[in-house]
Amino acid sequence: MTIRHFRLDTDLTPAEQAAVLDTADRLKAARRTSAHPRPLAGRSVALIFEKPSARTRVSFEVGVTELGGHPIVLDANTIGLGKRESIEDIAQVLSRYVDAIVIRTFGQDRVDRLAAAGTVPVVNALSDFTHPCQALADLQTVRDHLGTTRGVTLTYVGDGNNVAHSLLYAGAMAGAHVRICAPKGYEPDAGVVTRSARLAAGTGGSVEMLHDPAAAADGADVLYTDVWASMGQEADAANRVDVFRPYQLNEALIAAAKPTVKVMHCLPAHRGDEITDGAMDGPASVVFDQAENRLHAQKALLAFLFAELEAPQ
Ligand code: CP
Ligand code: NVA
Repeated sequence: MTIRHFRLDTDLTPAEQAAVLDTADRLKAARRTSAHPRPLAGRSVALIFEKPSARTRVSFEVGVTELGGHPIVLDANTIGLGKRESIEDIAQVLSRYVDAIVIRTFGQDRVDRLAAAGTVPVVNALSDFTHPCQALADLQTVRDHLGTTRGVTLTYVGDGNNVAHSLLYAGAMAGAHVRICAPKGYEPDAGVVTRSARLAAGTGGSVEMLHDPAAAADGADVLYTDVWASMGQEADAANRVDVFRPYQLNEALIAAAKPTVKVMHCLPAHRGDEITDGAMDGPASVVFDQAENRLHAQKALLAFLFAELEAPQ
């Protein structure tokens, strides 16, 4: 039995990532038809949330159900991970009951410790460091609207946060040209940038760090942004407004990109801050397709992880 985790984007190979995206497309097409598979029949999946969520919680709960499985949502107070009992103890206990654990949490180390101590696949549903399920859905959305991820210029403007890190990893693995345009002092983690550049070298993609939004938008196929202060950074939100204002995804930035540019945001959005109403609701926006694809991409990921469990050694 091979236990595969999805702690971060690079837990899949580029070929596996592409296969998961193909499955996501098939599941999307087969949704609500008799051809839809139920590979999780008789299985249960624990969904642990230590931070708020709308999309991730609902798409995983619906997704597990549609695959024939039983989702069990556990909030932070219910299990008290690391407070009521240790992460390692809960990993071993849950492994006796459920067939996979999905977790949204703070430090990436909490995801890693759960995976190390348990005996079932662990999926990262957002940590402070990465948001790999989001990036899978993002790539599916790029394929939906631009036909491919290869050679696509994917520009992210804003905070060099968890979403930016996963875009770097996943985009590089998918052969995209990933540009991250962040204010000075808010750039992505240097290790992620180095590792992504290495991945991109193997796929024909590239990674580029910029500070000037107009230069980052020039020639962009996708303009992507996220909140200026992530969950856990609320106390710093007011200090960030002036720093990030020039990085707003607005009509002027869209005009600086390709005429066919697509606007993306992982949501939830703070309209009027990192993105304008015009950008969110305008003809270039694919943000709600992107939100929908969370469902399909995560179902495909779970189907992949469960198939791996049964793969011959
Ligand atoms: N994009 C995303 O992860 O949304 P939620 O925080 O609502 O789950
Ligand atoms: N960077 C954001 C993403 C929310 C989906 C956060 O971590 O709050």
